[in-house]
Amino acid sequence: MIPDLVIRETTEEDYCRVLRFIELVDGDFCPPLSQRGDGGIPARVKESLSKANSNYVVAQLTQPDPADFLEGLVAMVGFTRKWQYQDDAYINFLGTHPSYRKQGIAELLHVRLEDMLFERGVNRLYLCTWSGNKAAIRFYQRMGYGVYSVILNDRGRGINTLNYRKRLGAKQ
Ligand SMILES: CC(C)(COP(=O)(O)OP(=O)(O)OC[C@H]1O[C@@H](n2cnc3c(N)ncnc32)[C@H](O)[C@@H]1OP(=O)(O)O)[C@@H](O)C(=O)NCCC(=O)NCCS
Repeated sequence: MIPDLVIRETTEEDYCRVLRFIELVDGDFCPPLSQRGDGGIPARVKESLSKANSNYVVAQLTQPDPADFLEGLVAMVGFTRKWQYQDDAYINFLGTHPSYRKQGIAELLHVRLEDMLFERGVNRLYLCTWSGNKAAIRFYQRMGYGVYSVILNDRGRGINTLNYRKRLGAKQ
């Protein structure tokens, strides 16, 4: 059963929480997010929190353990609106805390994100993953995404980038 959660958008005050959460799941990404781009995870989070068109939506336990260094943050999705066009958005991060996976939390979060973005005029969502990420591939297929391009060996020999998109507001 899904624990009691609050789903909300982050503010600049969430910087440390968001940073710690990404660091926790960094090793699940290929390549790790800490090894991508200039400035690593801190620069990525600062940019997302400071720009008007990007942010994170988080799922947070209503009653976190006081000793929890993440203060109850159990899942997070990051997005950039107006990515290529005025009415699209790119999902730049999705992760669930390893202890809270397979409870439907990512689905809950993603459905909420879609509703929120659709209300703000987003009609198409884009994201990518890599060929070895079976959990994410199943998840995105279940959520109605389709692959529109594959970049072979993009992340190392035999590890392809899979580019996905989904139209919002349309029956799948
Ligand atoms: C991909 C990821 C975000 C999914 O998060 P999640 O919260 O576990 O997702 P969900 O719980 O909504 O769905 C995952 C599975 O649990 C199942 N599930 C959901 N609720 C369940 C329940 N109550 N009991 C048992 N199984 C359940 C779903 O059916 C799904 O099964 P499937 O993998 O066989 O399709 C998570 O695995 C993750 O953080 N991975 C590492 C980071 C990553 O790869 N991110 C994406 C990069 S592109």
